[in-house]
Amino acid sequence: MSSKTNTSLWARWRNLSNDSPTKIVVVAVGVCLACSILVSSAAVLLKPRQQENEAQARQQEILKVAGLYRADADMETLFEAIETRYVDLVSGDYIAANDVPTPTVLTLAREHDIAGIGKHPRHVPIYHVYENDVLATLILPLIGKGLWSTIHGFVALAADGNTVKAISFYDHAETPGLGSEISSPDWQAKWQGKKIVGMHGHMQIRVIKGQVDPASHHADYEIDGLSGATLTANGVTNMVHYWLGEHGFGPFLARVRVSGPEGG
Ligand SMILES: Cc1cc2nc3c(=O)[nH]c(=O)nc-3n(C[C@H](O)[C@H](O)[C@H](O)COP(=O)(O)O)c2cc1C
Repeated sequence: MSSKTNTSLWARWRNLSNDSPTKIVVVAVGVCLACSILVSSAAVLLKPRQQENEAQARQQEILKVAGLYRADADMETLFEAIETRYVDLVSGDYIAANDVPTPTVLTLAREHDIAGIGKHPRHVPIYHVYENDVLATLILPLIGKGLWSTIHGFVALAADGNTVKAISFYDHAETPGLGSEISSPDWQAKWQGKKIVGMHGHMQIRVIKGQVDPASHHADYEIDGLSGATLTANGVTNMVHYWLGEHGFGPFLARVRVSGPEGG
């Protein structure tokens, strides 16, 4: 009985003209359904691979700002030279290596959110690089809005907690040839040796519009602008000010400047 009904349904479907509204709607819905199942399955199945790629891209950037990256070497092996530590952004303290903190999110008041990120974890990983068993470099993560996209980066600081050794910006969607010049090694090299805060502890580092005047009193804190990309460059300055300022790593860096990089 049921097979007879099925046969007659199939026969009725076959007899329907291709121009019939019923057939058009059923075929369109069927195609949409099949495509959406295909796309969502691909998204679910590829998620672990995507996360793995993101973690590798992160590791590569950390190694680059640490000055340890070599294209011909195994990244996992290179990364063994780097120590990961967690910092409590509120207290400015390191979290003890065996103390796994409860994940806590800090929601930012609009007036403090100059990086345009809304919220971020309270406990954030930073990276230590040792030279001859001495902690020589602190690598801190950065994240903030550019003109079109969220920009990710890392800054490597000397043990004084106030001198930039290297910086990198990656994983963004600023316009090629304009805002995306923030990823150019030549421009990133201009950050090397720049100071973050001045003698009185105020944030001074910034990307300016135009070229830095080497004779200026501010030359130690200023980085050449990117022609035609001032809005992205302003986003970079805001991101750096947020993360190295009082609501980001400021309390931690204040301790480093007094007690050294191990005592943050
Ligand atoms: C299609 C298009 C893409 C742009 N992309 C960027 C960009 O990625 N970053 C940026 O700062 N400005 C970008 N701009 C330019 C900005 O609108 C703005 O003019 C520029 O940031 C001002 O910088 P300037 O004062 O150095 O000229 C773009 C403009 C256009 C028309």
